[in-house]
Amino acid sequence: MDKIKIKGGKRLNGEIYISGAKNAALPLICASLLTDETVTLTNMPILSDVKSMNALMEQLGTKIDSFDDFIDGHESKTYSYRTPKLESLTAPYDYVRKMRASYYVLGPLLARAGKVELSLPGGCAIGARPMDIHLSSLEEMGAKIEIKNGYVDAEVDGRLKGAHIVFRNVSVGATCNILMAAVLADGITVLENAAKEPEIGDLICLLNKMGAKIKGLGTSILTIEGVDKLHGAVHKVIPDRIEAGSYAVAAAITGGKIELINAQPSTLKTPMQILRKMGVDVSPTERGILVDATHKKLVGEDIITEPFPGFPTDLQAQYMALLTVAEGAGMVTETIFENRFMHVPELMRMGANINVHGHASAIVRGTKKLSGAQVMATDLRASFALVLAGLAAEGETVVNRVYHLDRGYEKIEQKLRGVGADIERIKETGED
Ligand code: UD1
Repeated sequence: MDKIKIKGGKRLNGEIYISGAKNAALPLICASLLTDETVTLTNMPILSDVKSMNALMEQLGTKIDSFDDFIDGHESKTYSYRTPKLESLTAPYDYVRKMRASYYVLGPLLARAGKVELSLPGGCAIGARPMDIHLSSLEEMGAKIEIKNGYVDAEVDGRLKGAHIVFRNVSVGATCNILMAAVLADGITVLENAAKEPEIGDLICLLNKMGAKIKGLGTSILTIEGVDKLHGAVHKVIPDRIEAGSYAVAAAITGGKIELINAQPSTLKTPMQILRKMGVDVSPTERGILVDATHKKLVGEDIITEPFPGFPTDLQAQYMALLTVAEGAGMVTETIFENRFMHVPELMRMGANINVHGHASAIVRGTKKLSGAQVMATDLRASFALVLAGLAAEGETVVNRVYHLDRGYEKIEQKLRGVGADIERIKETGED
């Protein structure tokens, strides 16, 4: 059970290379199940979630080759996935329990093999997170679905049928899953109220390279003309906007200046706008985005999480950490998940002044200084928020349960040390 130790108070300065996006990589890996040819993904992030997904894929019969790669002069991974024959149609509990995104095998397996058994993920640290939209949409496409012994049993006679589906809620996962189901369906599928996150755009790009016929990229109405067969393709994963947004806050919270190499301004408009309103200079550069907080004072600003292009829920905890040291107050409203303030009590142990109202909103009043403490978080983004608070705090902060961070932040200590942070990993064994 590793820990991360931070001595706070250092102004961060320099550049950080932004890795490939975790939330793009995971559905892209599963899209490779739709063909018996090779799908090669470059700019893959080196993360435990990718390892977990690869383990599930191998269990299904996928042959995986990995290569060390250099993209734009930085280390990354290239993986190639080939599934000549499906050896299993089951995503067992132990995989799904470890990583919810395992449910991305649902659409592809049903489309290719007409049958799948997926352990239901259940709730998690940030909310109930049901899968009803995924399942009812597949039913509209002709699948028979049964829940038995904690598993979804989905089956279809022949091919899935194209359908006109209106999602009752904007869901990233359901949009990806149904896209992957529809590309091999018989006829045309229309998805209304589809999620527009950049990671979905990346999935559409790969699927179209594989021979799918999807129109409507970047909009909330997607039209998919089913085809009989898909083929192999090579695709470069987009940069991780959440990693970029997280390091932007690292610059802001330490009064520093960091260039986020490879960050895509078009995917970060709302978070960067909020930073500007808080008094941080943010500007696009030839190589990415420059975040400069060396001159101005931070001031509070309200934040409301929304589906893309709104403010991402995956940056809510990090921005809340920033608000704790800004002048004045900011109200944080979480509209996507019902239980995503688990970082609040930990931030308060470091001296933050936060008042939570119900499940959805919190007032954060700026305090002059946070002070280091032993903290732990229950999820990935909340853990990064504690790292950020530690970077700004006086004294030493120890963040426990680092495995959360390793799921989604590649080389976190190296990247932060590279811009001047005093941060180290303490390797430990035993209970945490
Ligand atoms: C994905 C991201 C996650 C991000 C979230 C919202 C991945 C691997 N994960 O999660 O990091 O925080 O998008 O941007 O990409 N819902 C239902 N029924 C469903 C599906 C969803 O009620 O069948 C609800 C959820 O409980 C949640 C909301 O819809 O309240 C949005 O969830 P969704 O967009 O599906 O999130 P994920 O795809 O799980």
